[in-house]
Amino acid sequence: MSDIEKLLREDLRGRTAYGAPQLDVPVALNTNENSYAVPPAVVDEIVAAVAGMASGLNRYPDREFTDLRGDLAAYLSRSGTSVSPEQVWAGNGSNEVLLHLLQAFGGQGRTALGFTPAYSMHPIISATTGTTWVDGLRGVEGGGAFDLSAESAVEQAQQHDPHVVFLCSPNNPTGTALTLDVVTAVHDAAPNAVIVVDEAYAEFARPGTPSALTLLEGRPRLVVTRTMSKAFAFAGGRLGYLAADPELVDALRLVRMPYHLSSPAQAIARATLKHADAMLGTVDVIKHQRDRIVDELTALGLDPVPSDANFVLFGGLRDSHVTWQALLDRGVLVRDVGIEHYLRVTAGTPEETTAFLEAVAALGPEHLEGQS
Ligand SMILES: Cc1ncc(COP(=O)(O)O)c(C=O)c1O
Repeated sequence: MSDIEKLLREDLRGRTAYGAPQLDVPVALNTNENSYAVPPAVVDEIVAAVAGMASGLNRYPDREFTDLRGDLAAYLSRSGTSVSPEQVWAGNGSNEVLLHLLQAFGGQGRTALGFTPAYSMHPIISATTGTTWVDGLRGVEGGGAFDLSAESAVEQAQQHDPHVVFLCSPNNPTGTALTLDVVTAVHDAAPNAVIVVDEAYAEFARPGTPSALTLLEGRPRLVVTRTMSKAFAFAGGRLGYLAADPELVDALRLVRMPYHLSSPAQAIARATLKHADAMLGTVDVIKHQRDRIVDELTALGLDPVPSDANFVLFGGLRDSHVTWQALLDRGVLVRDVGIEHYLRVTAGTPEETTAFLEAVAALGPEHLEGQS
């Protein structure tokens, strides 16, 4: 053990950091970004917003990001569920928002339950806050291997009596959306828990997929997290947010660092939100490419999981890592999410999707499970 390892907290020794490869490749489809650049009119608005606030950088930003909260509340309210600014919290990406939740409601001696495979940062952020992670199970007998039924989720919630429950919908990496009965059932079965519904991919859901925002009224322990990183094409801007009861939101002020959202971060997020329609203008094209991936991979003999997100998990591979490398050798970077026989691909532009599908079609039969 090195000297530094000896100094490190025992519970962090031997752990590996989050590490999706950031490689310079022609077709990068591994982190569920939106492949489309920010439109020129929005770039102009961002530049003007930064120019307008730059001379004030000698002062700390508005610690309560009041105007941005108002804009995010207005954006969320567009979906039909009214959300007030007092119900909104934000951070540098929804990862930071999740961190605040765990700092406030998790911690030493407390447990967080999630249903894996799900977003890999849920257990990682839990660990960094000293929260004990409980790996719940997905899978429905006679149904999809990655589905989560209300019965199964309730049983697991009752068994573990957690302090925080993560429900990810649409779920990363499977793309599976939850029905709201699962959310309400888990909420009622875990009376001592804050229930976090991670809706990072909500804008990509197929019609008829309801948001847990509609459940907030009368449920002060329920939290819905969102991000501008995915549909909103703003991953580099680092702006994630949540909606919840005002009292829960207020509690997060106990754990955040003062001034955690810089003045430029607030200004560019606000400038971008003014152009919400333009920023979301690529969502339908991306959804179409997602559905195309499912159809064409099926035709190629693979086993894609139907998706409500901007990515597709596909199975039927003999050795995920070997196929991951073979696709990379053809210039296409996808994600090995650590599920045997599966890989995950982000739906990109039509050209990127074509490049990915052509690279898969060019793979030999030795890549397929059950073929020689
Ligand atoms: C389910 C889910 N939640 C949250 C995040 C975090 O995104 P960000 O911190 O960029 O908002 C991601 C990113 O991939 C995700 O897949």
